[in-house]
Amino acid sequence: MKINSKTKLCMLIGDPIHHSLSPQMHNSGYEALGIDDQYVFVSIQVKPTDIEDFLKGFKAMQNFHSFTCTVPHKVIVMPYLDAVDPVAQEIGAVNVILKEGSKLKGYNTDWLGFTCPLEKRGIPLKGKKVALLGAGGVARSIAYATSAGGGELTVYNRTPEKAQALAIEFGGEFGSLDDLTGIAGADIIVNATSVGMHDKKTLLPKEYLSRDHIIFDVNYPRTHLYQDADAVGAQVIDGREMLLYIGIGIFKYFTGYEGPEAAMRKGLGI
Ligand code: ATR
Repeated sequence: MKINSKTKLCMLIGDPIHHSLSPQMHNSGYEALGIDDQYVFVSIQVKPTDIEDFLKGFKAMQNFHSFTCTVPHKVIVMPYLDAVDPVAQEIGAVNVILKEGSKLKGYNTDWLGFTCPLEKRGIPLKGKKVALLGAGGVARSIAYATSAGGGELTVYNRTPEKAQALAIEFGGEFGSLDDLTGIAGADIIVNATSVGMHDKKTLLPKEYLSRDHIIFDVNYPRTHLYQDADAVGAQVIDGREMLLYIGIGIFKYFTGYEGPEAAMRKGLGI
């Protein structure tokens, strides 16, 4: 154990939090770089109603260095921050909060979970047709990334008004989950809904999938959608891979170092 009185505490806050793989991923990275005496990463459950108290404590405790947040804090924390970086502002959510002097500033690395796996595979987003299922918080960062990267966005959502609003905001088209025939012509399909996380359901009938598709699912462990995608020979990118690149972005903000990919992958078990 290398933790000492100068060790900086980095945190993930969320509610619930028990399923998170972030502590293993970040601590593996700190260990690989030999900075595990300087940084330690823990996850902490914080109820949405306690966010203001949490932030007061975070500011007061000097060793509390930085934190990342997940559902349901990414938007509700924003009014309490002193500054928000322009990318996070455009996405409308933060997932990294740093102490800068006595001020708190928010950033967003969620969109890297979509763009980096594509870059790593040498797939440019420019001109790609992206079919995005979902219009919640996770979907927003993917809509932003698609628009910023020059992709062609179509949003499908259970509540059509939300699909329409997201599409208008990020310059895309929208459609209904009841008619997914357009999906066949997409290059990249993203399940950014929670469907499949707790059950074996999938929004995408297998007959719409083909080996030409790249399929993302923000959920982990692997959902039923992956079985269907594998069966047709599509390229699949799973929720843990997205978490990895979101995490590498967080690592840089927290420590100033490039996140060591191999060690962080190992921490995630991928
Ligand atoms: P997150 O921040 O994780 O994206 P969220 O903001 O609650 O969470 O969004 C969840 C997404 O999953 C939404 O797009 C939601 O659709 P609605 O906007 O219609 O609520 C979608 N979703 C959740 N359960 C669903 C279901 N059973 N069928 C279809 N879509 C579902």
